[in-house]
Amino acid sequence: MRIDILTLFPGMFPPVLDASILGRAQANNILEVHCFDLRDWTHDFHRTVDDEPYGGGPGMVMLVEPLANAIEDIQARDPRPAHTIFFTPAGTPLKQARAHELSEEFERLLLVCGHYEGIDERAYEWADEEISIGDYVLTGGELPALVLIDAVARLLPGVLGHEESAVDESFVEGLLEYPQYTRPAEFRGMVVPDVLLSGHHANIAAWRKAKAQERTRSRRPDLLD
Ligand code: ADE
Repeated sequence: MRIDILTLFPGMFPPVLDASILGRAQANNILEVHCFDLRDWTHDFHRTVDDEPYGGGPGMVMLVEPLANAIEDIQARDPRPAHTIFFTPAGTPLKQARAHELSEEFERLLLVCGHYEGIDERAYEWADEEISIGDYVLTGGELPALVLIDAVARLLPGVLGHEESAVDESFVEGLLEYPQYTRPAEFRGMVVPDVLLSGHHANIAAWRKAKAQERTRSRRPDLLD
């Protein structure tokens, strides 16, 4: 998958994306990331990307012109059309199911990170989709873009090794994940449930399913609706 990122802060991405599993995915050519600085599509001395809102009010609004020109230029850099995602708290909340769909349906994504008080509404004409990563307000779309890349890229075939499988984890069957334990079998009087030491696979599977349901009911009843 190719992911293009349009941002005012291109330096925020490599430290995260070059580490750990996503760094390995890039080294293995499963994931290809390109960061673009929106200021490269400005023409004035100050490289202006924002202006005061029409109608007044606090804050600055990102200009439509550099955004539109940048998106069109970046689109043209690869023959594969990029599914273009804007990040905004007003977008559709990101869920695991959407991360799966994005990982399967698109060979190329273009992620547009807004900043300041918002962006000129007309720029959304260039959006295929608007995504929120939760009901809180961040300073910009960079962290949401990183969250989305992580959630999507780890689902691409070959990114997770067998040991890190994405099959048996939270949200996959609409439930939170069951509790996990590793050595030692006892720590300061806290013991690992007997069933996990029993070697009885059917009992272990039944215990895990019951724990996943119990945990989901108590912590996230909304997932059961
Ligand atoms: N930009 C600012 N806050 C955001 C959020 N919660 N989700 C997506 N984009 C945002």
